[in-house]
Parts: sequence; C-alpha cells; structure tokens
Amino acid sequence: MEMEMLILFLLLPFVPLYLFRLLNSNARKSITEVDHHHQLQLPPGSSGWPIIGEGLAFLMTAKRGVPEKFIGDRRIKFSSSSHSKSSICKVFTTSLLRESVAVLCTAAGNKFLFSNENKLVHSWWPENIYTIFAGSDRPESHEESIRLRKVLSPFFSPNCLQKYVGIMDAFTKRHLDVFWSDKKQVKVLALTKMHTFALVCKIFLNVEDPSVIAKLEEPIQHIAAGFIALPINLPGTAFNRAIKASMQVRKDLEEMVQQRRIDLDRFRQTATASDVNENSNYQDLMSKLLMDTYSDGRQMKETDIADIANKLNGLLIAAYDNVFITLCSIVMYLSELSTVYDAVLKEQMEIASSSKAEGELLNWGDIQKMKYTWNVVCEVLRLEPPNPGTFREAMSDFVYEGYLIPKGMKLYWSVFSTHKDPEYFPDPKKFDPSRFDGGGPAPYSYVPFGGGPRMCPGREYARLTILVFMHNLITRFRWEKVFPDEKMVMTPFLLPTKGLPVRLYPHTSSL
Ligand code: HEM
Repeated sequence: MEMEMLILFLLLPFVPLYLFRLLNSNARKSITEVDHHHQLQLPPGSSGWPIIGEGLAFLMTAKRGVPEKFIGDRRIKFSSSSHSKSSICKVFTTSLLRESVAVLCTAAGNKFLFSNENKLVHSWWPENIYTIFAGSDRPESHEESIRLRKVLSPFFSPNCLQKYVGIMDAFTKRHLDVFWSDKKQVKVLALTKMHTFALVCKIFLNVEDPSVIAKLEEPIQHIAAGFIALPINLPGTAFNRAIKASMQVRKDLEEMVQQRRIDLDRFRQTATASDVNENSNYQDLMSKLLMDTYSDGRQMKETDIADIANKLNGLLIAAYDNVFITLCSIVMYLSELSTVYDAVLKEQMEIASSSKAEGELLNWGDIQKMKYTWNVVCEVLRLEPPNPGTFREAMSDFVYEGYLIPKGMKLYWSVFSTHKDPEYFPDPKKFDPSRFDGGGPAPYSYVPFGGGPRMCPGREYARLTILVFMHNLITRFRWEKVFPDEKMVMTPFLLPTKGLPVRLYPHTSSL
C-alpha cells in the first residue's frame, strides 16, 4: 500500500495534463453523442478526482459500514436534475476503476441489466482481473460464459449436488471435532476460511492432503486483493502480489490436472463408461471438466490443461471468498440475536433428532426442511452481501430513463441500491427473516447472487455448504463474541474487524 501511495505521489505532477486531456476528450465525446442522439444527455453525475475518480469515496463509505450511502447520497444529489418522470434519480454516472460508469439504482434498473444481457449489455470486468488471470478467456465473453455454464450446470445442479450433502456433513463434523470441540475460544475468521477452502478442494479437486491444500490456499489469499488494487505491477504492490499468486496457483493446478488426466486415462482402459461415472475418485469438478474436454477422445494438449486450470482457479476464488465471508456474518448475527439463534436451533434440533439413526449423516431431504435457517441466511445476505455488485458494458448506444448510454460505457448494479431501501425492505436495518416467507421480496430487489443469464452459478453449492455448516455448529454450540462491538466491515472486502474471536459454550446433553 505504501508503495502504491508513493507511485500516486509521483504521478501527481502529471495530473493537470491528464485532466486537460480528459476534459477535452469527454467534451468531444459528449458533443458527438448528443448530435447523434438528437440532444439526449448522459445521466447526471460527477467524475471525481483525476485517475482515482470517485473510487476513494466509494471505498470510504464502505469502510465506515455504510456502503449504501455512496449510492444514496448521489441519488439525492442528482434527483433535482433528473430528466425522468419521477423526481427520484434512477441512474447517475460516476468514475470508478478509471472508467466512466452509469450506476442503475432501482429494482427496475437491476431487471433492465439482467434481462438485456447480450442484447444491450454484456458482462464487463475491470482490466486488473484480465491481467491477474492472464491467459484465460475474457470472462465477459458471452460465448465463453455459455460454454462454461454448460459444463458447470450439471455439476452445480441440485440433482448432482445432493450427492455431496453427506460428504459435506462428514467433512464439517470432522472439522468441528478437530478445531472447535474442547476449545473455550476460537477465531471464526481463520477457521471458516480453513474449512471453506478445504471443502472446496475436496469437492472441486478431490484433494484432501493438508499440505497440498495449504500450498494452494496461501497464494489464493492474495488474488482477490489485486482486483481493486492500483494497477501498478512493481514488487511490493498488492497488484504484483496478486499476479504472482495467480501464476503460482495456475501452475499448481495445471500439474494436478495433467496428473488427473493420466490417471483417468489409465482407469478408462480397464473400465466401462458407467464405472468412470460412478467411481468416487472421479466425481469432483476437475474430473468432470476433463471428461467434458476430452469426451471426443482427443490427445491431451497443453492449452486444454491450462484452460481447465484457469477455470478452476477462478472457481476456487469465487467459492472460497463468498462462502467464508457469509459464514462469518452468520456467526456474528447469531451471536447478537438470541431469539433468531433459538429459532434456528429449534429447527436444526428437530432435523437432528427426527428419524435419524445414531451417526446418520444429513441428506437432501433434511436440507429442504431447513426453511427458517435459510431465511436467516437470506436476511444475512441482504444486510451483508459479500459481493456488492458487478459491471456490464453497453454493446451499442441506447436510452435509459431518458438518458443516453453510449456504446462502450460501463454500467454498474449494486445490491446496496435496493437491499437497504425502505421502498423494498420496510425498516431496512431490522433483521427480519420473515421477509423471505411466502412470495418473498419484490422481484429484482433482492439480488445477492446477481440475476439473468450471468447469475451466480455457485448459489446452490453455497446454499448447501452454508446450511450444513450451520446445522453442525448450532447443534453443538452457543457462542458469544469476545469483542461485543466487533462488526463486519468492507475494507473493501467484507471482513470482521478483529477476526471474530468467540467464546464457545457446548450444549449440555439435555438440549
Ligand atoms: C454466498 C455465496 C456467493 C455469493 C453471494 C455470490 C455472488 C455472486 C454474484 C453477485 C455474482 C455476479 C452475478 C452477475 O453479474 O449477475 C456471482 C458470479 C459468479 N459466481 Fe458467485 N457467489 C457465491 C458463491 C459462489 C460459489 C460457491 C461459486 C463457485 C462454485 C461461485 C461462482 C461464480 C461464478 C463462476 C460467477 C461468474 C458467472 C458469470 O459471469 O457468468 N459463486 N456470484
């Protein structure tokens, strides 16, 4: 960080020149666009500081625990200058990650973006991500997304995932036995990270060796930090660390994929297709990706192996960060809300005791009974979403709410536009799982997993791992925070400020 501040300082003398060029180019751009679109204007907004734009304001509101304020303040500020029929601003422009970005701030805005995927907009990721995942297909590519989803969807479908419930349950029980039982106090952040990553390695890679897991986990911790770092690739910067970490993980994954391909080929020589499909060594995501790639029997190619390793790299990060952050938020809320805790405990105890033989593991039917517990998770994801939103890019000029959105402009949807807006969620600060009863929230207002064709493909996997973890944790312990005022804060990733140490109180056998 210090290195980045230094570089920023060194760049400061060039700011006036940059500003002059920026203003000129923006002015030229908007005149041509206005001519072309019969005097339509861009949405109201401000571009903030040169180079950093409004990125700092965005990060500061998040760090202060009020990420919704960045959007809320601008909606108020730009409401009077809004051209739309209603006076409340529905779209404004800002400057983030060195891009001019239109922020759509209503449920209708979410619907517009999600339902126009690959018609008016397509997915867009900041340039940092392409550099960090160098060599991979550009993740906004529509064809690549369809191809990836085609391969992933059988694996992530409820039909397939239900086979993993027992494995997840046994795995979670073992984790709690080793790292939580007989402890008076534990650090929840460290343990949920360890558990989430080990589980992902088991289900995605069929890897259980702690030394292999640790070798992958160490660099993976640095990758996400590089997504939003200043793009300065010099030793000591977060960006440089993320690039190196991603290369290291890819290299390790490539070796694993190569070895698995050899093992799989050997096994196939003596087995039938159904043997391969049923064999427990080849039920993981890596094996499925290999079987899909080589289903036509072609020779192993370096590029195929690198491609699979890249996909796994991205999936490991997506599954790891979002899930352990959610687990931390859940533990945090349940330590603060005793009536919610009691209601979850009651539901889970009923599942644990109902028609279960001694030692019998959870199954798919049990997961379906966890209705109240899932409502609690949904409410946690409304208030503390680990992924606050993503970008799209305009594929052609179009008009939104009376404003011109020129081709190439970036668009942003954010969970914070709607999740804490009283219009969609009355008394938005109140923790109220009953919001998800019946029909649930208004369409497109509750979007922790995004929406449309790019909606998170891992949501069912996330649901299972979270529910299985909650079942096991709550049926064993009650807990209290060591630091009563500790909160989850976005820095910019949502994390507990002190690592969430909790004191554990195992249930007595009478419970
Ligand atoms: C609580 C857990 C999770 C949350 C809150 C979450 C949230 C999200 C969100 C908001 C998006 C962007 C959707 C959009 O742009 O419309 C996304 C995309 C994605 N997520 Fe998740 N996610 C979670 C868990 C997972 C898991 C477990 C996996 C992996 C298996 C995963 C894999 C992905 C992938 C691959 C994408 C990109 C999809 C695309 O661009 O087509 N996520 N997720």
